[in-house]
Amino acid sequence: MSSGHPPLTSPFAIGGIDVPNRILLAPLAGIGNWFVRLQAGRHGAGMAVSEMISSFALAHGNRRTLSEMLRIHPDERVVSLQLFGSDPEVMRTAAGIAAEAGPDIVDLNMGCPVSKVVKTGAGAALLRDPGRAVAVATAAIEGAGLPVTVKLRSGLEPEDRTGIDLARRLVAEAGVAAVTMHPRPARVQHRGEPDYAAVRELATSVDVPVIVSGGLSTAESARRAYERSGADALMIARGSLGNPWIFADLAGDPAEPGRDEIEAELRWILDRAEEHWGAERAARNLRKFYPWYVERLGFSGPEADRFQRTESLDQVRDLLREARAAASL
Ligand SMILES: Cc1cc2nc3c(=O)[nH]c(=O)nc-3n(C[C@H](O)[C@H](O)[C@H](O)COP(=O)(O)O)c2cc1C
Repeated sequence: MSSGHPPLTSPFAIGGIDVPNRILLAPLAGIGNWFVRLQAGRHGAGMAVSEMISSFALAHGNRRTLSEMLRIHPDERVVSLQLFGSDPEVMRTAAGIAAEAGPDIVDLNMGCPVSKVVKTGAGAALLRDPGRAVAVATAAIEGAGLPVTVKLRSGLEPEDRTGIDLARRLVAEAGVAAVTMHPRPARVQHRGEPDYAAVRELATSVDVPVIVSGGLSTAESARRAYERSGADALMIARGSLGNPWIFADLAGDPAEPGRDEIEAELRWILDRAEEHWGAERAARNLRKFYPWYVERLGFSGPEADRFQRTESLDQVRDLLREARAAASL
């Protein structure tokens, strides 16, 4: 550990909110709902950020967005709800609605490169319109009455550093309480080597916490990125999928989970998903979760595919039971 760089297990604060450690769950669209965040917290994450939520849908009272995406479990702490949008007035209203759901922090997405988001002027498109980005953040702060943070990219194109300039403006002019930087240009989406030097450049020039995201697929790569970036904290994204143990590993408790533990974790997910979506929708929505666990359980090829083809949660529970019986023969 380089001198002066705090250990990942030490607490820090975001806008007056105490965060017990520096190992955080990143926002993951279509994934980061309350039970995925709760799971990360159970395994030691100091804070978890929600999947991105449309400010427009909130401000227009979309029923499913309000009832499902704003849902926070009472045991979740510290929790941040991430909003995306490009209209300051819509964002002001949406941030107020999100704050009523009881998060500790509201985060703003200024890094999403997906065309559905960018073509509305939101996500990474705000890098091209820094004045609007500052207005959106200012409105969110006024609407939420909570600390507001921003997650953005280093730039839109390779070598472009507009994300660093925008982050500085968001801190100085809007008063955002922390910035997460994913130092890959929006153009490359989630591929390629992150430029941790860009995060270091930002971290040395603002007086709020800077959080690094990107390329943190294993505990080793996460530790390396933390050191190289000089960031105040890190966010695990794809590295946490089916591997909540990565949080404990980074917190200094590197236990390789056994088969029973992995199976218990998948069963916990099945139960929580049923609670959240009801059995029928959970059966559909969880199909993308199965490969992460099934592979770890040692299934491959046609055996693993059987999980993908299940029509109900009970079929998945039966497959797990069968596999357990076969393993103990
Ligand atoms: C499936 C998926 C969904 C994502 N959803 C969001 C999101 O809703 N908001 C956001 O700011 N970033 C989102 N990201 C970006 C991640 O938070 C993270 O910055 C990125 O995956 C880089 O980290 P990694 O290389 O460690 O996975 C998403 C990434 C993936 C792969």
